[in-house]
Amino acid sequence: MEVQINKGPLRGELTVPADKSISHRGIILGALADGETVIQNLAGGKDVQSSVSCIRQLGIEVEKLKGITRIKGRGIHNLQEPEDVVDCGNSGTTMRLLSGVAASRSFQTVLTGDGSLRRRPMGRIIEPLMMMGAGITGRRDSRLAPLVIRGGGLHGIEYRLPVASAQVKSAIILAALAAEGETVIHEPVPSRDHTERMLAAMGVNLPMEQGLIRIKRAGDLLPLDIVVPGDISSAAFWMVAGIIVPGSEIMLRDVGLNFTRSGIIDVLTKMGANIQIENRHMIGEEPVGNIIVRHSELKPVKVEGQVIPRLIDEIPVLAVAMAAAHGISEVRDAGDLRAKESDRIAMIVSSLTSLGVEVESSDDGFIVNGNGFIPGGSVPVGSGGDHRIAMSLAIAGLISRVPITIEGFECVSVSYPSFREDLVKLLRHTA
Ligand code: S3P
Repeated sequence: MEVQINKGPLRGELTVPADKSISHRGIILGALADGETVIQNLAGGKDVQSSVSCIRQLGIEVEKLKGITRIKGRGIHNLQEPEDVVDCGNSGTTMRLLSGVAASRSFQTVLTGDGSLRRRPMGRIIEPLMMMGAGITGRRDSRLAPLVIRGGGLHGIEYRLPVASAQVKSAIILAALAAEGETVIHEPVPSRDHTERMLAAMGVNLPMEQGLIRIKRAGDLLPLDIVVPGDISSAAFWMVAGIIVPGSEIMLRDVGLNFTRSGIIDVLTKMGANIQIENRHMIGEEPVGNIIVRHSELKPVKVEGQVIPRLIDEIPVLAVAMAAAHGISEVRDAGDLRAKESDRIAMIVSSLTSLGVEVESSDDGFIVNGNGFIPGGSVPVGSGGDHRIAMSLAIAGLISRVPITIEGFECVSVSYPSFREDLVKLLRHTA
């Protein structure tokens, strides 16, 4: 599907889709609980739907009625062997977290996904889960899905994560819940901690020190009652849009502000963006607030080190903000972008280059020479089937001199099915 981007100031209030990471965890952890987990405002995109259908294949009933999702957990030991291959679609979080669950069950689970997911690295979960005692094989010397997992009989391990990945950390934590002894995980840099927060609310004792998580075999897990906050990764598109398009002012309501996710606010503020946070409060285990952004002149910035996992999914749209700034910006220490739904370093560089932006890749990031606007181009620019690239290009189109057309825009449905409607509302000032 080709989409042409209209222009104009963006004004109004918006509630962005519910947080995808929290939604996946609500479903998967809810399936392990003893009793019914109730989730309000579950994310509606295809990725979270993949987690729902996979969990159903493991014998768990999931009911959705009037905006409320109920997961009928029967305890971690009562999951059933799936009768067929389990399809995780485009969702890396579904595949990696479910691998941790499947590794602890003494039956066979076969996990697959779409073409993009079958190209993404799975060695990073296979290695620790096999060290714990699970039997896992996959394509290409057990580095790629489909994965065949025969679990059970796990024991605790001490493991240093080679990459800061919340998906890998969560897979190990989920397996550790049913492993003998203690599991100790060392994180090089803190990554999103929704799994830890939710498990604490389910009654699991998870002592955490700086960079260290300890988990012991768990007894019964308490069911959850969750309201999912807005997804900061979706809000980030409108934050950047409101900041770079002259005359804009946008309020984004009830967005999750967990420190492990809010690096985009820190970096845009450092660039000189006018961002205000109001009505900070907690929804369950997670901090939330309203984010107000106004058009601002941006300075270039260097983004590296500890902040990277705190904004990893927002880097494509941050690249657009860098193009809208005057001067040389740089992203480093972000080599894992090459292992996302697409090689995001390559996609950022090729798509922005085709729109006339001066941008160059490095091994673990890229450099943008921003001159305050995006020239644009008459040739349609491809999304590479990656939802965050497609939406970032749409935001670039809001400040391009020549209107741009994006190919393959339908991929946004994995995380933000109503993106175009929300854009139209903000452009018409009816949001
Ligand atoms: C996610 C963790 C991140 C992120 C992904 C969602 C999660 O991946 O990029 O979109 O929900 O745990 P990694 O754990 O691979 O960094």
